[in-house]
Amino acid sequence: MELIQEQEKATSMPRIGDEAPAFNAITTQGEIDFPNDYAGEWVILFSHPADFTPVCTSEFITFAHLEEKFAKANCKLVGLSIDGLYSHIAWLRTIKEKIEFNGMKNIEVKFPLIEDISMEIAKKYGMIQPGESKTQAVRAVFFIDPKGVIRAIIYYPLSLGRNFDEIYRALIAMQTSDKFSVATPADWNPGDDVIVSPAGSCGVAEERMTSSEDLDCKDWFFCTKKLPKETVLKEILKKE
Ligand code: BEZ
Repeated sequence: MELIQEQEKATSMPRIGDEAPAFNAITTQGEIDFPNDYAGEWVILFSHPADFTPVCTSEFITFAHLEEKFAKANCKLVGLSIDGLYSHIAWLRTIKEKIEFNGMKNIEVKFPLIEDISMEIAKKYGMIQPGESKTQAVRAVFFIDPKGVIRAIIYYPLSLGRNFDEIYRALIAMQTSDKFSVATPADWNPGDDVIVSPAGSCGVAEERMTSSEDLDCKDWFFCTKKLPKETVLKEILKKE
């Protein structure tokens, strides 16, 4: 029985729409009370297999380089890696002092990196996926909204570095959906047309097909409208 419970804990997977599981953690920026410390802000919580590994290092440099860009979209970054605090500190110092990646160098990681040598937090978040590794977290990305609700999750295997354009795009798209009550089509980026909610009655379906001035209806269930890039960015990005 205990073994089954242990296994279930190892594979417990928070889902989209769940409240982000709460935890207290030691990080490279001091202790955090998650997600309470981030109320009112979006957070991207992302996991790494281990410190001093090449794919993780390339990702860490990239995230740190983009930290300001995410901050402008009211989004904080929190990393987790299956190692202890002193290893984290040594790794981040090495990154700053020695590593150049894609033209980025002298990069200081200012966001918290959680120590999780016991894997307790990683297990809570389904970051340990035993088919991939029993001791290293997969590359998970949790998007958590200002109310502490998980809004999107992306998982990558150990060997695959994340696409940061996609992570940023997904954040802005979800914020746009919240702000303007629209959905975003495939490959959407600010400035592209957005999707209005599907017609909920035969009358609305008919109206959409015959008289909606602002809508471009490919069929009654698939209508888009313009949403200028400036309008999106003005609402979403913090003012200088
Ligand atoms: C890496 O970050 O380079 C890595 C970590 C664990 C397994 C494979 C690659």
